Amino acid sequence: MDFQTKTARLISEFTLDLATLRQISLDFEKAMDAGLAGQKSTLKMLPSFVGLPTGGEYGSALAIDFGGTNVRTMNVNLDGNRGARINNIRRIGLKNPVLGRDLTTEESTGEELFQFIAQELKDIPKSTKPQPLGCTFSFPCDQINLKSAKLINWTKEFKTRDTVGREINELLTSGLVYQSLEHIEVTAIINDTVGTLLAGSYQSANVDIAAICGTGHNACYLEPTHPLTGAPMIVNIESGNFDGIPQTRFDKELDLTTYNPGSQQMEKMVSGRYLGVLIGRVLQELYRDTGLPISAQLAELRSISGEDIDNILLDVAPFETIAKIFKERFDTETTAEQRQAIQKIIRAISERSARIVAATFAGIVRHIDSAGERPHVIAIDGSLYEKIPKYSEHLQNALRELLGQQNQVRTILAKDGSGLGAAVAAILAVGSADTNFCYPSPGTDVPETTMSASPLDDVSSKEQ
Ligand code: GLC
Repeated sequence: MDFQTKTARLISEFTLDLATLRQISLDFEKAMDAGLAGQKSTLKMLPSFVGLPTGGEYGSALAIDFGGTNVRTMNVNLDGNRGARINNIRRIGLKNPVLGRDLTTEESTGEELFQFIAQELKDIPKSTKPQPLGCTFSFPCDQINLKSAKLINWTKEFKTRDTVGREINELLTSGLVYQSLEHIEVTAIINDTVGTLLAGSYQSANVDIAAICGTGHNACYLEPTHPLTGAPMIVNIESGNFDGIPQTRFDKELDLTTYNPGSQQMEKMVSGRYLGVLIGRVLQELYRDTGLPISAQLAELRSISGEDIDNILLDVAPFETIAKIFKERFDTETTAEQRQAIQKIIRAISERSARIVAATFAGIVRHIDSAGERPHVIAIDGSLYEKIPKYSEHLQNALRELLGQQNQVRTILAKDGSGLGAAVAAILAVGSADTNFCYPSPGTDVPETTMSASPLDDVSSKEQ
């Protein structure tokens, strides 16, 4: 087949028209209703046992942000006026090929994983009172109350042994005891989407939906009257498991290569963990079906990196960056025409991701505000939304197509919000007045590592 025809076919396979988006959106809304009513649904609609903060909460808490293979620990001070200061941020990799460490495989146990994470809190100065700690644990959990959550199943290719079905607070608390950190009390375990919503709504008004568009994908929202309590509660949708989106043959093939075929179908179509794999497969077929020579590197390509995707999408004619990437990574010479086609195909795949996500957002908005009467702000964290060129624009455009030009829905970047959100949850759990131990304690000179002003500035300065 000639190159232009093949390119056009591939692009059309990944293009979602408005009618399809509308259907996805309606089906998502129905799946939300069913999940919430406890009926069979691919959406777990997990209760979080926490509502929105007022912005007046104050105090100090430790936070762990466990979203994927990189875990962050920090100390957070809330000033009681929508402001926050984050100190002592540390990042640790659960995988370190140089040191031969990988805590995400079946070789490691849940105990080892949490002992390792707890170790990172050792350098934070101790206070005389118990220190509350909030932990985002970004996997589907059966939440029993704000401080107890049991892992239902791993996602994002995690396989750590002896963790599924276990109580995460217990594992983390044992890890803290193992590291002689008994003064730290784990007062909240939350999903990262919930953390992002708590952080976004602590900082600004009208934030009632949040999502992660990064390695994984998921969303949460404030259910105004939760069936369990009759009060407002944040619900972790676990949207990544939604299965109502038409799959291409590439999606079906990719699904079969994962450790959980059939599960997390939406996540495998939209999130960073899988987008590069999908693109790799499409490029291989483009070369194969048009008779272009395939180098060994291209034939064996498993996934294209997020950084390469961003650079390919940013390139302009005569597409020298793409030429360089193909030469260096795949030992492949390209013509300008081929490079332009490659960019268009990759754009179609990333645009599809943004449009699917937008369709589910529209479903959430209709669920909480069927008449579209109120303003809604969706706080989003994650590398796709932050970095993929035009991703946020595609998302906004699709939201306008679905909800109308006059809709009152805005999306904002809530960068690294979930750590702050974990601290907000920890403080909500114990009450502001009970966290008034000082950090840094008077007279201690603790260097501030980052985010001295407020992560709020970060959010508002990057509003889309
Ligand atoms: C996966 C997890 C979900 C998490 C999301 C983003 O989909 O199942 O709990 O929120 O990744 O990190």
